[in-house]
Amino acid sequence: MKQYKVEGHLHPKGNSWCGKTEPSDIIKLYKKLGYDAIIVTNHFNRHIYNDYFEGSKDDRLDAFMRSYNELKANDQGIKVYFGVEFALKEDYYHFPLNKCAELLVYGITPDEFKEYALSIIEMGYEDVKQLCDEKGWLVFQAHPFREHTKRINPNYLHGVETFNGNPRHINRNVRAHAYQKLHKLLEVVGSDFHQPQDVSSAMLFNWLPSDEKELVELLKSQDFDTLRGKSALKRY
Ligand SMILES: [Fe+2]
Repeated sequence: MKQYKVEGHLHPKGNSWCGKTEPSDIIKLYKKLGYDAIIVTNHFNRHIYNDYFEGSKDDRLDAFMRSYNELKANDQGIKVYFGVEFALKEDYYHFPLNKCAELLVYGITPDEFKEYALSIIEMGYEDVKQLCDEKGWLVFQAHPFREHTKRINPNYLHGVETFNGNPRHINRNVRAHAYQKLHKLLEVVGSDFHQPQDVSSAMLFNWLPSDEKELVELLKSQDFDTLRGKSALKRY
């Protein structure tokens, strides 16, 4: 049976200081590596909203969508889903003195992002979980055992990222995987792509969701395999 190779965590250039790779180069790279789909999970927090983007509220939110739209319009047959990596107010303003957390939200659409993004970054974790439940989104803690990272109460999460491939951090993925199993949470894996050498994981879906809402159904079912690390990718 065909399986569809999917990147779960990716940051193109143009949405944050850390994204280093042009959308067109991302498409070429993932096509070459045999991926069928990518989930774009750009950072959104008060710092990025205030200091990275410019202009009116609409200007800033439109600018946030630009790289996603460019990726989505690719002619290489790579399916592109929208997602977001949020940092909430309670953590963000204290960095780097306190431990922080980031949330991957899947299932949210571009229109829903524009409506809710600014209020989400002012909320606490419990309220974000409640909003996700109301809207049918899923919230995962990204890289929960990375350095300087605190663990969110599992009751405020649907899942955790059990493998994060970012080579510029210590992610302690084995602990993240054990933590997910212990708390009976959903899992996702992702390369946390920022640069071409970062591609290091995949989810192998048994079917390819048509949109973000179907993506939620698939993630809820956990009906996929995972490739965790570059050697696993090579073997596949
Ligand atoms: Fe990330």
